[in-house]
Amino acid sequence: MNIENYIRDIQDFPKKGIAFKDITPLLNSPEATNACLDLLVSQLENQKIDKVVGVESRGFFFGILLAQRLNVGFIPVRKPNKLPFETISASYELEYGTDTLEIHIDAIQPGDKVLIHDDVLATGGTAKAVCELVEQLGGEIVQVNFLMELTFLNGKEKLSGKSVFSALVY
Ligand code: PRP
Ligand code: MG
Repeated sequence: MNIENYIRDIQDFPKKGIAFKDITPLLNSPEATNACLDLLVSQLENQKIDKVVGVESRGFFFGILLAQRLNVGFIPVRKPNKLPFETISASYELEYGTDTLEIHIDAIQPGDKVLIHDDVLATGGTAKAVCELVEQLGGEIVQVNFLMELTFLNGKEKLSGKSVFSALVY
């Protein structure tokens, strides 16, 4: 099973000049989805995980599946003003301007071992903000994993000191 065959390039989306990595063929195949989950879980090497944090919105798909596989709770990190309970927030730089992510203050207990998941590691701004949220609540980040990493954007540099694994590397 080659997971890469289930990611398709869409040229000029969402803007001209960008080749978008579309994961919908992967989601549409239970076999490929399972193979991808197997790979991600194998990289955790039986380390204890208490919570999986997934990032809105494309980090939700595999985030929930990973939490179910590991038989632990799933925590959504969401875009502003979506979570109903009390939150903390972290901001990160975009090409133009900034964006913000939020997490419920009671989602993680101090000392919880946390796996963070998102679909893509690009510039790393999103993942770094999520790490800040988890650490602010006292969580210990065991690993940050992705379906794919776009190495030419050097996102890993923003995650120095963290264990990072990507199922596919471009
Ligand atoms: C995309 C992608 C990652 C993030 C990676 O999400 O799903 O979350 O960008 O980029 P970065 O490493 O440069 O921060 P996006 O904000 O487009 O939202 P979506 O998941 O809701 O589509
Ligand atoms: Mg995203």
